[in-house]
Amino acid sequence: MNGIDYSQKIPNNVNLSEDKTLQRALEHWQPNYLAWWQDMGPDGSHGFDVYLRTATSVDPAGWAQFDYVKMPEYRWGIFLNQREEGRRIHFGDHKGEEVWQDVPGEHRANLRRIIVTQGDTEPASVEQQRHLGLTAPSMYDLRNLFQVNVEEGRHLWAMVYLLHRHFGRDGREEAEALLERRSGDEDNPRILGAFNERTPDWLAFFMFTYFTDRDGKFQLCALAESGFDPLARTTKFMLTEEAHHMFVGESGVSRAIQRTCEVMNELKTDDPALVRAAGAIDLPTIQRYLNFHYSVTIDLFGADQSSNAAIFYSAGLKGRFEESKRDDDHVLRGGMYRVLEVQDGKLVEKEVPMLNALNEVLRDDFIRDSVAGVERWNKVITKAGLPHRLTVPHKAFNRRIGTLAGVHVSPDGRVVSEAEWNANETKWLPSVEDRAFVASLMGRVVERNKYASWIAPPMVGINRQPIDFEYIRFN
Ligand SMILES: [Fe+2]
Ligand SMILES: [Fe+2]
Repeated sequence: MNGIDYSQKIPNNVNLSEDKTLQRALEHWQPNYLAWWQDMGPDGSHGFDVYLRTATSVDPAGWAQFDYVKMPEYRWGIFLNQREEGRRIHFGDHKGEEVWQDVPGEHRANLRRIIVTQGDTEPASVEQQRHLGLTAPSMYDLRNLFQVNVEEGRHLWAMVYLLHRHFGRDGREEAEALLERRSGDEDNPRILGAFNERTPDWLAFFMFTYFTDRDGKFQLCALAESGFDPLARTTKFMLTEEAHHMFVGESGVSRAIQRTCEVMNELKTDDPALVRAAGAIDLPTIQRYLNFHYSVTIDLFGADQSSNAAIFYSAGLKGRFEESKRDDDHVLRGGMYRVLEVQDGKLVEKEVPMLNALNEVLRDDFIRDSVAGVERWNKVITKAGLPHRLTVPHKAFNRRIGTLAGVHVSPDGRVVSEAEWNANETKWLPSVEDRAFVASLMGRVVERNKYASWIAPPMVGINRQPIDFEYIRFN
């Protein structure tokens, strides 16, 4: 069955009504989820009618139906891609065996950990972004923020379904805990570091959706290869939603850059102080935000050498990005991969067994993908006739996880002393003063087709609507 049953309390395409115990358990979790949304979802927005897409089926015709919805009434549901008959595990030690429809006992703990870790990021980002609606740069952007938020909520549902359906009592407890942890809470934080950072302003939001939602894409792509078929099917559908989140980030940063370039050309200057005085964000500040979000995000891939990564792969739980397009044996025993380490004060590459380096493999895939978008941002600058360029910092810059956590590395990849780091930190990463300046630009602009001073209008509207469309009715 492809279509989604909306007559149910919980919209789903998994025949939930045929499993009464599971249905009752999820219907018991649902009010707790809604209470979490009321508390921790977008601030002060519960009464707005928002032009949102909702999935009515997982096929191309149905997954993006647009209409006005009050967000607390959004139909969060459980949607898995259709089962592929005869699908087989195509990597690791179980290669060639039929995929699992249930969790194999020996992989239960690892699968639970993978699902909980993924699930935890979803409500975390909603919490991180909950105040941004108060300072939206336009009605169009506010709608995009809310779209991202409701879909992250749905991604939580996707993971909670797996926990309830396949992990019994432990799964139900984990599902409750997903509503109890809080981003940035000292006593009960979210699991991963980047999801406890604040997203204090819209430049941070756009960088987050560009870089950190892209981490989501790569994690989901790796899980879409999983031998645990329900996980593969649910993550495949999540990926269709994720693309819009990255679009929001890429186009948002691009529009900020475009506005900055306009100001630089109008004033014939690249002096940050003059650009700032004209109400735009100077390119060096954009570069520092980029450095921050990029480095924090690449930490999310985990330690460069990890025996867990090897276990997850060999067991068939988590593949590589585009596993089936690679022409190796998909078992990887004996394969080698280069990782970085510091020797005599210098970064050097060393070869390690590839199975242990799979976090690094995924990180490098991510890096290639994110660099491409930064080049598209540079095209905006080139088109404006300006010589400036944005770059991603060296992958050893500002790392907190793995071998590189203990060293200071400059954005251009030199190992530097503590003193040099301290002397340059505010040139390389957003300073308190940068953040205060960006915050000072964040006023709420929500009249139709009006935009804050620091951002250009979008090129096109959502769902082929004009850019001056009434994306939100405030009532
Ligand atoms: Fe997500
Ligand atoms: Fe996302």
